[in-house]
Amino acid sequence: MVRAQAWILTKHFHGFPQDSDFELKVEELPELKHGEVLLEAVFLSVDPYMRAYSTWRMKQGDVMIGTQVAKVIQSNNPSFTVGTHVVARCGWRTHTVSDGTDLVPVMAEWPQDVLLSQALGAIGMPGLTALYGIEEVLGLQEGDTLLVNAAAGAVGSVVGQIAKIKGCKVVGSAGSDAKVAFVKELGFDEAFNYKTVGSLEEALRKASPDGYDCYFDNVGGPFTTAALQQMKNFGRVAVCGSISIYNDSTPQTGPYPYLTMIQKQIKMEGFLQGRWQHKHPESLKRLMTWFKEGKLRTREHFTKGFENMPAAFMGMLRGENIGKAVVAV
Ligand SMILES: NC(=O)c1ccc[n+]([C@@H]2O[C@H](COP(=O)([O-])OP(=O)(O)OC[C@H]3O[C@@H](n4cnc5c(N)ncnc54)[C@H](OP(=O)(O)O)[C@@H]3O)[C@@H](O)[C@H]2O)c1
Repeated sequence: MVRAQAWILTKHFHGFPQDSDFELKVEELPELKHGEVLLEAVFLSVDPYMRAYSTWRMKQGDVMIGTQVAKVIQSNNPSFTVGTHVVARCGWRTHTVSDGTDLVPVMAEWPQDVLLSQALGAIGMPGLTALYGIEEVLGLQEGDTLLVNAAAGAVGSVVGQIAKIKGCKVVGSAGSDAKVAFVKELGFDEAFNYKTVGSLEEALRKASPDGYDCYFDNVGGPFTTAALQQMKNFGRVAVCGSISIYNDSTPQTGPYPYLTMIQKQIKMEGFLQGRWQHKHPESLKRLMTWFKEGKLRTREHFTKGFENMPAAFMGMLRGENIGKAVVAV
């Protein structure tokens, strides 16, 4: 009998999550039936969407949603042999019984010298988000100037590097001097700490006096209000995330951007990376190629121990991570 540990959402978050919103439970897993496998978590992802989705996708008492890299440790399913690794959306659990549906085997050609945690970051969902936002939504062209916020994070750090690969000027905004130094090391042309600049308008203008062709928005809120003013005519905006409002208990209202959008004829499109799921295998290979060529560099912010999942999640929401926030079991 295998005992699994699972983190439960005991109470819907009200404002910023608190320790008391989570509870660690132990459950005994049943014997495997035909076609089932037993998974053991190796790396678990903590992501901003968990905060946003908890409100409408989860009930109190549910296991926290999330993706992990897991090892198959028992198998009654010939498609998943013991010892193989999969990316699994089974939530914050140490062990899971799965019938194989929804399990995605880690890329067959995964190099031995690349940590599997990357399958939750640059060569996983956040990397795909960056790629699709740039190629499918923004249609980024060589010579464009691109602005990205949360630039030192999982998605933002990949966005800036892909834009450099494509021959663009890249400006990044991040929440600490260490993050600014990190994105400059990655090759961003300009970067600033939005918490200390004083005037966001001036910082944006100084970084690109001619304005921005493209804006990859991870943050929303007042940052976006300021950024839209700095767009060039016919600027394109990819609305990827809105982390500045995920913890709000009362929805923010205004200022409304419509006059700016009309005057500058701005095109703005929200997106979810899953729209291009049919392209994932090919896209992951492209990301891995850039990674192996040294064109895509990554940093991971590890928290050790499954018992620290809530702390890792809240730390990420507070901006403690440089690069992808991951929990190593
Ligand atoms: N549309 C999609 O399919 C999709 C997929 C994945 C992610 N996303 C979105 O993309 C964004 C980035 O996700 P990620 O996984 O790459 O996370 P991340 O950037 O690695 O981590 C979150 C970062 O957000 C910043 N942040 C937190 N609170 C903030 C606030 N109040 N104002 C401004 N910045 C704040 C912090 O960086 P600073 O220190 O720089 O503030 C923090 O490190 C999120 O909005 C997420 O929801 C969307």
